[in-house]
Amino acid sequence: MTKIWRSLLPGCYGSGRTAGSKQAKKFMAKQISIPRLSFSDLSNSTGMLSPEDLSISLVGSNLHVFTLAELKAATQSFSSSNFLGEGGFGPVYKGFVDDKVKPGLKAQAVAVKVLDLEGSQGHKEWLTEVVFLGQLRHSHLVKLIGYCCEDEHRLLVYEFMTRGSLENHLFKRYFASLPWSTRLKIAIGAAKGLAFLHDIEKPVIYRDFKASNILLDSDYEVKLSDFGLAKDGPEGDDTHVSTRIMGTQGYAAPEYILTGHLTVKSDVYGFGVVLLELLTGRRSVDKKRPIREQNLVEWARPCLNDPRKLNRLMDPGLCGQYSEQGAQKAAAVAYKCLSHHPKSRPQMSAIVEILEPLLDLKDMPIAPFVYVVPAEDGCKDESTKSEAKKNGHHHHHLHGHRHKVRSPKAAKEGGNPQHRTSPEYHKQNGA
Ligand SMILES: Nc1ncnc2c1ncn2[C@@H]1O[C@H](COP(=O)(O)OP(=O)(O)OP(=O)(O)O)[C@@H](O)[C@H]1O
Ligand SMILES: [Mg+2]
Repeated sequence: MTKIWRSLLPGCYGSGRTAGSKQAKKFMAKQISIPRLSFSDLSNSTGMLSPEDLSISLVGSNLHVFTLAELKAATQSFSSSNFLGEGGFGPVYKGFVDDKVKPGLKAQAVAVKVLDLEGSQGHKEWLTEVVFLGQLRHSHLVKLIGYCCEDEHRLLVYEFMTRGSLENHLFKRYFASLPWSTRLKIAIGAAKGLAFLHDIEKPVIYRDFKASNILLDSDYEVKLSDFGLAKDGPEGDDTHVSTRIMGTQGYAAPEYILTGHLTVKSDVYGFGVVLLELLTGRRSVDKKRPIREQNLVEWARPCLNDPRKLNRLMDPGLCGQYSEQGAQKAAAVAYKCLSHHPKSRPQMSAIVEILEPLLDLKDMPIAPFVYVVPAEDGCKDESTKSEAKKNGHHHHHLHGHRHKVRSPKAAKEGGNPQHRTSPEYHKQNGA
């Protein structure tokens, strides 16, 4: 058995460095007949992953195995000028690879995520990411190009997503407000990514659906990233998976926080929260707002299903430039996703079908294009006016490099605005 794993995750044994090798190709061929490995296939009986697990692997994943030196070279020694941001796993750097790094490797920009050896995540999250993303390929999932596993170092190499995360675009002051059509496109892309995960033969529960894990390419196409918390769905007659409470405050479904029971409907709840963020331009949890408005779902729920009240919720940054019918239908979807009863929440594939036609609705108010200086309540800060381009994108970068969100130091000092939760999360929050 170990022998098989050894050949499948070659880097961890210091052999067979490229997935383009003959050996890897042989396993690629086998992939056709071998089903996706579930994560449980890879854990030992205690659920803990031993160093031996490094050999565990990925049939035909075609992942590249990098050395630390190669990734250092690709990122200018992880220089601060290449720094993109930092989450619970560790810092992320922009890099560049080509066939000089690895024969057969396409010349491309990459994002290199480095495990913070002193952080709360570790080998398990790294391995989960490699196992899931190494096997799952879809136009709405970020592509894992390879990994590095050298001594205690754990790194992940992804395709570079030009526009970074949805979180930055929705909530950071240096980005102009996203137009309605782009918000819809993002909601649909994200819904398709989740629908894919839920509808495959061995369904996957994503578990950490949130704005910072929705990455955007140059055309605002969505790719979901971060499978470090993903779980295989229930098997056989089981209705749910029982697990430690992990996720992010504000996005996790209430029944999951209370019971630890995880189903695909927990992801649907998370989708409802992000849809609400897209409609309102507000964070799922915002401690800077008045107490009654701090929890987005609680604040918005009473207005979501009432067309007369909906405009109170809509993002002022949209300046009224949205399809009213579209907003009502999207709000109704969010309302259902946020139901307290998991069974009442729709399937992701049904959500895709409801949202896609909303792109064709033409009931947008005709108004002059208002250039909005991005701010908390966008419309109050309008400064320049010019003619609107119908349904066009009006993105302006006011200052700063788009991806230099924070310096690594600032990131460490300031922390993430929304933290992944530990098992203690529900205790801390009194749930
Ligand atoms: N493939 C990528 N291309 C471009 N930027 C990326 C890529 N992956 C991550 N980033 C950027 O790196 C930053 C950190 O991402 P990361 O996923 O590590 O943390 P997070 O999502 O903010 O938090 P969490 O750890 O809770 O998921 C984000 O701001 C994101 O924009
Ligand atoms: Mg993330």
